[in-house]
Amino acid sequence: MASGSAVAPLFLLWLLLLHNVPLALPASPLARSFELDYEEDCFRKDGAPFRYISGSIHYARVPRPAWRDRLLKMYMSGLSAVQVYVPWNYHEPRPGVYDFVGNRDVEAFLDLTAELGLLVILRPGPYICAEWEMGGLPSWLLWKPDIVLRSSDPAYLAAVDSWLHVLLPKIKPRLYQHGGNIISVQVENEYGSYYACDYGYLRHLLGSFRALLGSEVLLFTTDGTQPEELHCGTLQGLYATIDFGPGSNVTEAFGAQRWVEPKGPLVNSEYYTGWLDYWGEAHASTSSVRVARGLENMLQMGASVNMYMFHGGTNFAYWSGADFKDQYKPVTTSYDYDAPLSEAGDPTEKLFAIRTVISKFQPLPAGPMPSPTPKYAYGRVALQKHADLLDALGVLCPSGPIQSQFPLTFEAIKQAHGFVVYRTQLPRDVPDPATLGAPPHSICDRGYDVTVAGCQQGLGWWDRDGQTTLRVMGRAGDTLDVLLENMGRISFGANISDFKGLLGNLSLDSSPLSNWLIYPLDIDTAVQQGWPHAALPKPSRRGRAGPAFYTGTFETPGIAWDTFVKFPGWSKGQLWINGFNLGRYWPRRGPQQTLFVPGSVLHIGRPNNVTVLELEALRAGSLGPAVCLQAGCGAEGEVEVMERDPAQQGLSTMPAAAAGKSRGGSE
Ligand SMILES: *[C@@H]1O[C@H](CO)[C@@H](O)[C@H](O)[C@H]1NC(C)=O
Ligand SMILES: *[C@@H]1O[C@H](CO)[C@@H](O)[C@H](O)[C@H]1NC(C)=O
Ligand SMILES: *[C@@H]1O[C@H](CO)[C@@H](O)[C@H](O)[C@H]1NC(C)=O
Ligand SMILES: *[C@@H]1O[C@H](CO)[C@@H](O)[C@H](O)[C@H]1NC(C)=O
Repeated sequence: MASGSAVAPLFLLWLLLLHNVPLALPASPLARSFELDYEEDCFRKDGAPFRYISGSIHYARVPRPAWRDRLLKMYMSGLSAVQVYVPWNYHEPRPGVYDFVGNRDVEAFLDLTAELGLLVILRPGPYICAEWEMGGLPSWLLWKPDIVLRSSDPAYLAAVDSWLHVLLPKIKPRLYQHGGNIISVQVENEYGSYYACDYGYLRHLLGSFRALLGSEVLLFTTDGTQPEELHCGTLQGLYATIDFGPGSNVTEAFGAQRWVEPKGPLVNSEYYTGWLDYWGEAHASTSSVRVARGLENMLQMGASVNMYMFHGGTNFAYWSGADFKDQYKPVTTSYDYDAPLSEAGDPTEKLFAIRTVISKFQPLPAGPMPSPTPKYAYGRVALQKHADLLDALGVLCPSGPIQSQFPLTFEAIKQAHGFVVYRTQLPRDVPDPATLGAPPHSICDRGYDVTVAGCQQGLGWWDRDGQTTLRVMGRAGDTLDVLLENMGRISFGANISDFKGLLGNLSLDSSPLSNWLIYPLDIDTAVQQGWPHAALPKPSRRGRAGPAFYTGTFETPGIAWDTFVKFPGWSKGQLWINGFNLGRYWPRRGPQQTLFVPGSVLHIGRPNNVTVLELEALRAGSLGPAVCLQAGCGAEGEVEVMERDPAQQGLSTMPAAAAGKSRGGSE
C-alpha cells in the first residue's frame, strides 16, 4: 500500500476515461496519433484504420475573403482532407524579409480548415512546382547565378534552412499529434523528375524537417510512376506516394508504388481532375465521367486519394509559372484547371459526379451544397489613354536607372517580376537600315516597343523563341528603348534557373551596343498610389502605338459581386482594379479570353479605378477604348445580353477553341 498515493490519481483518470467524462486537460499526445500500418496496408488515425479522400486548394490563388466559401464547399463534397502547398517565394520576397499578412496569412488559412473539420496534408516544399512562378523558389536565389537549385549546393541549403526555421515552427503546433489537423507533411515535390538526383539534398531536408517538426509526424514524398522518377525521388524514412491522372491504369500505377513501398497504404497524392492551360494552346479539359470512374477504382482498392486540383483559382499579378518543352510555355492567368470547383468557386457537374462516388464509400455531411456565387454584369467601362509607358519612367522607377556597360538580367538588378526598360543611344548615324538584334532565346520573355527616338521599329514585339532581329535607321545619339517582360519563371524540369530580361547583347550590325540605362519598373506601387499622378506628362504622341496606360472608373449598384472582364480590341497586357493586380490578359493569343474579378476587390459607394497596361496595340471600337464587365461588349459597343448559366460563367477560359479536345492528365 506504500505506493497507494501514487496510484490513486492514475486510477481516477482511468475512471474518468471509462465513463467518458470530458477532461479539461489538453489532449494527451498519446490520444492523438497518425501513423502508417505496414501490416494492414493503411493509415491509422488514433489507432483506427483510416484512409483519406482529399482535394488540393492553393490559398495563394484564392482571395482571402473567399477562403471559407471554398473550404466549406470542399467539406460539403464529402472530402475528409485538403492538400495545401506553401509557396516560399510568396512569403520571403527578399532574403530574410517575411510576409505572412493578408492573403499570405497561411496560419489563418489553416485555422479555417480546422474550423471546418478538414484534415490537412501540408506540402511546404521548399520546391512545389504547382505551375507557380519558379516552382515556389524565390528568384533571389539566382542573385548567385551559378547556384544549383534543389541540390546540396551550400548556398541553396543555407537559404532553405533559414526559411524552414521560420515556416516549420508555425506548423509544429498544428500537427495532428500536437492537437492540430495536419496529418502528414510532404518533403520536396516530384524530386525524381529533377535531373540532379541528389540524395544528399533529400537527406538534408529529412534532417531539417525532423529537427523542426519532431519524430512523430508522418513525412512523405510524391513522384510520377516511372522507375527513374521513383528511383531519384524516394528515400528511406520518407513514405513514398505517387501521382497519376484518369488516363493511367490504376492497377499498374499502384504497382509502381509497390516497387518502392511493398507494404503500407496506397496513395495517389495528385489525381488530376483536369489540367492547366498555356497561352497559345487549346483549353484543356477532362471528362467528369472519366475522373469519377478513376476515383471509384482507386477508392475500391482502399487507396487514399488527393484530387489535384479540387479548386484551382487564379494566377493573380505575376505568379503564373511556365513550362519548358522544346520551347518556353507560359501558363495562363486562369488556373481553373477544369477542376470540380470552377475558378470562381462554383460547383460544377464534375463536383457532383465526384461527390456521388464519395458517397458510396463514406457518409456525406448533412445539408445542401452551397449555390454558385452571384455574378454581376456591371457593363461597359470607358477608358482613356493616360500615359505612354516610356513617358512615365520617372513615376514607375522613382529611384532612377542603373548604369551598365552591357545589359543586366532582372536578377542582377534584383527585380523579381514584371517589367524593365533598357535604354541606350545609337552610337553612330544609321542612314540606311541596319540590323538590330539579340542572340536567339535571349529575350526573356518578351520585348516590346523597340523604339528609336520615340518611333516604334518593326512589329512591336519580340518573343523569347521567335525572331529577335529587325531593321532600324536613325542618327547618332538617338535614344533606343526596349521594354522587357518576365512572363513567369519555369516551374518544372531542368531549366528552373530561368533568368529574365535581356540575357545577351543587343547588337547593331553585329557590334554590341553599350552604355545602357536600365530602369526596373515598380508599376504596382505606382498604380496602388492612385492614378492620375500629377507628375505624369499627358500622352503627347497622338496615335503612337506601344505600351501605354489607360484608366477609367465605374460604380457598383450597391453590391460587390464577382464578375469577368472582357477586352474588346485589346491585345496583351496587365489589369488592375483599385490597385489589385488581376493578372495578364492576352485575348489575341488565347485560349483565355476574360479575367476573373473577385467581388472582394470592388468598392461600394465610391468609384472603382480600372487601370490597363496595354503592351502591344489597341483597336478601339467606335465608342472608344473600353473594357466590359460581363456586358456592354457587343459589336460596335452595343449592350450584349449575357447568358445566366452559372456553369458557363464559372469558366473564364473560353472553351470554344478547344471544344472536344481532352487531355489525359497523366502527362
Ligand atoms: C490494367 O493493367 C493490368 C495489368 O497490366 C491489366 O491486366 C488490365 O487489363 C489493365 N486494365 C485496363 C482497363 O486496361
Ligand atoms: C534545358 O535543360 C536541358 C536539359 O538539361 C538542356 O539540354 C537545355 O539546353 C536547357 N535549355 C535551356 C534553354 O536552358
Ligand atoms: C556583350 O559584349 C561584350 C563586348 O563584346 C562582351 O564582353 C560581353 O560578354 C557580352 N555580353 C554577353 C551577355 O554576351
Ligand atoms: C482613383 O482615381 C481617382 C481619380 O480618378 C483618384 O483620386 C483616387 O486616388 C484613385 N484611388 C485609388 C485607390 O487608386
